[in-house]
Amino acid sequence: MSELLVTACAELLTLRGPVPRRGPAMRDLGVIRDGAIFIRGDRIAAVGPRRRVEALREARHADKLDLGGRVVLPGFVDSHTHLVFPESRVDEYEQRIAGKSYEEIARNGGGILSTVNALRKASPRGLAARASSYLEKFARHGTTTIEAKSGYGLDWRGEAKILHLLDALHQDQPLDIVRTFLGAHVVPPEYRRRPAEYVDLLVRRWIPSVATAGLAEFCDVYCDRGAFTLPQARRILKAARACGLVPRIHAAQFERTGAASLAIELQAASADHLDHIRDSDARALALSNVVCTLLPGCNFHLGLPQRAPARPLLDSGAVVALATDFNPGTSPTVSMPMILSLACSQLRMTPAEAISAATINPAYSLRVHDRAGSIEVGKYADLAAFDVADHREIPYHFGVNLCSMTMKRGVVIHPKKP
Ligand code: NIG
Ligand code: FE
Repeated sequence: MSELLVTACAELLTLRGPVPRRGPAMRDLGVIRDGAIFIRGDRIAAVGPRRRVEALREARHADKLDLGGRVVLPGFVDSHTHLVFPESRVDEYEQRIAGKSYEEIARNGGGILSTVNALRKASPRGLAARASSYLEKFARHGTTTIEAKSGYGLDWRGEAKILHLLDALHQDQPLDIVRTFLGAHVVPPEYRRRPAEYVDLLVRRWIPSVATAGLAEFCDVYCDRGAFTLPQARRILKAARACGLVPRIHAAQFERTGAASLAIELQAASADHLDHIRDSDARALALSNVVCTLLPGCNFHLGLPQRAPARPLLDSGAVVALATDFNPGTSPTVSMPMILSLACSQLRMTPAEAISAATINPAYSLRVHDRAGSIEVGKYADLAAFDVADHREIPYHFGVNLCSMTMKRGVVIHPKKP
């Protein structure tokens, strides 16, 4: 088994501590100055101050990786992405700049449905090539685990094509991919006049099939105006839960629909967006284990003034996570460092809160916290090193990628070996 001693971590952010993280604990990153990590195979075998780890008998003959005095943290866990899509929607970007809104474009057949049309025609090979190239870019920005949703097929062939592709990608490239079935993204064109029948189809046929075939671990619903109603979302997610798929929900992105309360009622793993919730919702979420996943890339990219109430959520003790929401319509970024910058500058999270929200809390929301999200003995050696002297400089320098090394399960995946 390979053995590796990683040294010269000026600031080693272990993120050890309670899982999930809430309140003041989100500011405790478990920092070790001049730290080192001893890795055996794909797992962390020891972590601590350099002198102590270097002195371990088994570490003496290990290969050495000197990081040259950098800030080292657990690889980012990006818990909300729409990884598989066939093409960008850059035309819509320009239309929005000219004054059209995201929802107006969607009502006129653009938006999610234009990606659905293109995906149904796309070859699995073309989709795979595009997704693989994005995964490499995620890795270059320090991400080592992602969640990825279906939802651009909206017919069985299309949805299955995405979920099978995600499985193949999980096997064939280094990043871990956790799958979510999002058949309830929007009502597909064939069912436009009879949405109740589409919900029936999801509940009676597709959700049981996805669960039985092991095609996803989670089930998500986009519950908002222009998508699914609260009663429809409840029915879909209850059916999912009964089949063993854990609920997640797109909640309050454009309107306060009650989806945040539904997330609590169903003990969803995560409620995402939350731009339009009230302080009373924040307090209710804080009393639950639902992870509040904020996606500040969307409002930034759409040029909207709305801000998710991160401070009320954090101050009332909610479990907060951050994700890119990588998708061609509202957030075409793979960069967690950029999301950290937005979270700090626009949502007023502290750099430490943002780092907890990008590592251990999303790992909990994906139920992978036993192996990812912190640098602790027994977990995967998933690391990201940044070319800065102080971890607060990661969000401080916005729009620039300072990730100098990414390791997944003990293997350096960025920079790539020549
Ligand atoms: O999370 N809001 C729903 N889903 C995506 C947008 C997808 C798209 O526009 O293609 C989101 O923002
Ligand atoms: Fe989304």
